[in-house]
Amino acid sequence: MAHAKESWGTRIGLILAVAGNAIGLGNFLRFPVQAAQNGGGAFMIPYFIAFLLLGIPLMWVEWAIGRHGGKHGHNSTPGMFAVMWENKAAKYLGAIGLFISTVIFIYYTYIESWTLGYSVFSSVKLYFDETTFDSMKQFLMSYQGAGAGVHFSGLTTAYIFMTITLLINFWILYRGLSKGIELLAKIAMPLLFLFATVLVVRVFTLGTPDPMHPDWSVWSGMAFIWNPDFSQLSNAKVWLAAAGQIFFTLSVGMGTIQAYASYLKEDDDIALSGLTTASTNEFAEVILGGSIAIPVAVAFFGLTQTQTIAQGGAFNLGFVSMPIIFTKIPFGQFFGTLWFLLLFFAGITSSVAMAQPVISFVRDEFKLTHAKATVLLGVLAFICIQPVVFFLSHGFLDEMDYWAGTFGLAVFALIETILFAWVFGMEKGWTEITKGADIKVPAIFKFIIKYITPLYLAVILAVWSYQDAFNIFLLKNKAAEDIPYIWASRGLMFLIAAALVMMIAKAWKKRRQLP
Ligand code: ALA
Repeated sequence: MAHAKESWGTRIGLILAVAGNAIGLGNFLRFPVQAAQNGGGAFMIPYFIAFLLLGIPLMWVEWAIGRHGGKHGHNSTPGMFAVMWENKAAKYLGAIGLFISTVIFIYYTYIESWTLGYSVFSSVKLYFDETTFDSMKQFLMSYQGAGAGVHFSGLTTAYIFMTITLLINFWILYRGLSKGIELLAKIAMPLLFLFATVLVVRVFTLGTPDPMHPDWSVWSGMAFIWNPDFSQLSNAKVWLAAAGQIFFTLSVGMGTIQAYASYLKEDDDIALSGLTTASTNEFAEVILGGSIAIPVAVAFFGLTQTQTIAQGGAFNLGFVSMPIIFTKIPFGQFFGTLWFLLLFFAGITSSVAMAQPVISFVRDEFKLTHAKATVLLGVLAFICIQPVVFFLSHGFLDEMDYWAGTFGLAVFALIETILFAWVFGMEKGWTEITKGADIKVPAIFKFIIKYITPLYLAVILAVWSYQDAFNIFLLKNKAAEDIPYIWASRGLMFLIAAALVMMIAKAWKKRRQLP
């Protein structure tokens, strides 16, 4: 072995790292927008059902697959699947996990770099002259290279923050599991909770900031998120959105939880740890994430405009409406910096998790040193991120987000659940989940994992394919000028997939040649 087997330093460190993996931009930007777009309180019903029937079971399945694979020396899903199923195809199915985490890493770190940029801009009040939606949007677009150089001359600033963000990510990864990722989690997670709490308290003490509009308040914002619009429950889109949010926020179906769990010892608990990380994520999402961006937007802009903001998506909420609010409140500079730093910490503890599986894979299978594997993948990531930066406005990022970050998660989750419950076998699987467990896992989950979770996933995929995926694949409703860029995005994803398949074929050939 070219490297010593790594392991987590402490249990709390591991739990913080997995919670950090889960808690990300999804909790503070994606969740509020999804809840607001999909019937407010009514969204929470399919959301919690998806949490119980998909989120928690998949969490346990992934921890179990990871710890089991780690016992056999595998720290990424191709090898893990190969030990669960003695079939040539298993490792290629596992490659989907590597593919998804790698692709998400590429665009996610770019968005993460905006949060770093905006925290600096907040601290120096760079956008504080922009007080309208249009001008703040113009500011964001200019930052992204699409605003005719009004605020920024081209992409230089965005490019610098992207490079810094990638460097920080790979520096942490370079330091390794316990001195890098675990240390980051131990520092960033408490700070993240502190920042979020300070922001929630600030939001809740705002009252009605606009005397002209006494009905615009944080409380009407909370009512908007929480009052159920039950008529939405019969809408399939709401159920799909809820399930999609559960995958994304918990980081299940990505191949990252398995990689983290593979560094556990054979009889370390996974049942309580898995449940704790899932619950911590939900606290951060529903309680903290739900109490910042939307309520404050309603207090400042009223309900109707907030609905329009939410329809405009997560970036509109986080990078346009929030900055306007910071220009209006006392100590806005401070709160703005805090908000974007919160997003940055949330983002980076997730992005390092997305890069870890492919680093482990290259290191383990090609016997590279950890340092070499990290530097090599850092350079490759830097190359792959270029078109994301330059072609952002042409749907390059959205295409990756759909196939890897939305549809792909459900595909991979379905594959791993079938493999775990039906091929590896539910009896063995259950033994894995309950081995060393510090809690008694309710026996009903044996049934859920075997029947309900895969069925649920299959239905989601079928409806998704019917409603969206075919149309997206066939480029329906796309602007003609964007089509070449969308194909370029698919081309990049194809290259990543092809490279992974070739590496796996090579690695396993080498393995067969070993005595
Ligand atoms: N789970 C991560 C997030 O919520 C990816 O952003």
